[in-house]
Amino acid sequence: DAAALQGLRRGRLRIAAVTTTEYFLPDLLGPFARQYPGIQIELAVENRDAVVARLERGDDELAAMMRPPVHLPLERWPFLENPLVLIAPLDHPLANRRRLKLADLTGEPLLVRESGSGTRAVAEEAFAQQGVSWPPRMALGSNEAIKHAVRAGLGLAVLSRHTLSRDPAVDGLAVLPVAGFPLRRQWHLVWRKDRALSLPARTLIDDLRTRLLAQRRDELAARKRARATGSILQ
Ligand code: PGA
Repeated sequence: DAAALQGLRRGRLRIAAVTTTEYFLPDLLGPFARQYPGIQIELAVENRDAVVARLERGDDELAAMMRPPVHLPLERWPFLENPLVLIAPLDHPLANRRRLKLADLTGEPLLVRESGSGTRAVAEEAFAQQGVSWPPRMALGSNEAIKHAVRAGLGLAVLSRHTLSRDPAVDGLAVLPVAGFPLRRQWHLVWRKDRALSLPARTLIDDLRTRLLAQRRDELAARKRARATGSILQ
């Protein structure tokens, strides 16, 4: 109806996103942004602790993050996989190994994100779970700073696979084949249950659901086709 249309003709949509999602979230927002040019989108990109603080204050309607806090009444939708990998400089001796254990790496300097980063927290938990003590040598405030530092030979790090190029070698980086890695996590889109969602927010969620579903269906079909072709060739 007209009121609903009006709600999409103008308006504002505030979204908070953890830093690791900046590599794909703008792309995902593209079709919605093009379809509703009157909706002004504000995307805040911060680390997990800052996104949690924003959710507590109710600064944004939607947030994208790996681990939604449990102390807030949140609706959560796991919308994308987030594999976390261990990276080294391409010319590092360990980069040629077929298989590694976490304990093989702990003599190397470890680079981590700033405290407050969800990536850092998940990596530290994984080390503890594997009974490995690997204190960080250096903390850096962004994924990009970590990538550059690893490439420069300052140490190894755990990062989301999505922060790397399709072929990490083009950035002078290698993903190490470490037992227990990648750490398989997911990103969630979350919103507060105790607040009504605006029409733009609901429309964006529907748009993402539809497109991600279609994308997954295409991927499955492509995989099936590849298998079928493979069996013909055998
Ligand atoms: P962050 O992201 O390391 O930028 O806090 C963590 C997450 O994916 O939730």
